[in-house]
Amino acid sequence: MGGITFFLFIVEVVTGMLLMFYYRPVTEYAYLDMKYLEFDVPFGLILRNIHRWAAHLMVATIMLHMLRVFLTGSYKPPREFNWVIGVTLLVLTFLLSFTGYLLPWDQLAYWAITVGANMIRAMPFIGHEGPFAFVDKYNDIRFMLLGGTGIGANALLRFYVLHIMVLPATAIIFIGVHFWRIRKDGGISRPL
Ligand code: HEM
Repeated sequence: MGGITFFLFIVEVVTGMLLMFYYRPVTEYAYLDMKYLEFDVPFGLILRNIHRWAAHLMVATIMLHMLRVFLTGSYKPPREFNWVIGVTLLVLTFLLSFTGYLLPWDQLAYWAITVGANMIRAMPFIGHEGPFAFVDKYNDIRFMLLGGTGIGANALLRFYVLHIMVLPATAIIFIGVHFWRIRKDGGISRPL
């Protein structure tokens, strides 16, 4: 399951790089670029759909991988550090999924991200509606993520940069550590 998750990650990197040739992360063009990709670019529709479906699949397989590791008790020593690396990879995968969702700039994207981003308003300390908040809506965590108080051009650009650079680069580093740890911990766990 980990191997399948890794394969899907590679599919995302390759198709994502190809999609970058056709997509501009500005409010005037983002949605039009998606339509151009779907109706005019040769193989554009299948390219977009491979990227989208592989993303959905990766979220499913990473959870199945985690379930397998849990059910075989493979989080126990000496593999507990690799479990923690795995949790980081899970969060990164969710964040990749979340940031990618905004990029088509259609109604679904816009409102889904509106709801998702509103949730972090309630974070303790750093969300302005959360418990023990010491920030207001102009300097809380949501403002930082969106680059404003609502979903607009800044949010689109921030999500794009996170989606194509920051998150994939971080994931590649953590996947490298994950694989290195598998070898250091004596390979995949087996029944005793
Ligand atoms: C991008 C995400 C991930 C990738 C590409 C990945 C990849 C892999 C691969 C290829 C293996 C070898 C064994 C197998 O395939 O089952 C493995 C093992 C392992 N993974 Fe992941 N993994 C990811 C996420 C996670 C998550 C979310 C967790 C748990 C929170 C996790 C915890 C572990 C542990 C503890 C092992 C060692 C298991 C054993 O020795 O039996 N990984 N991973």
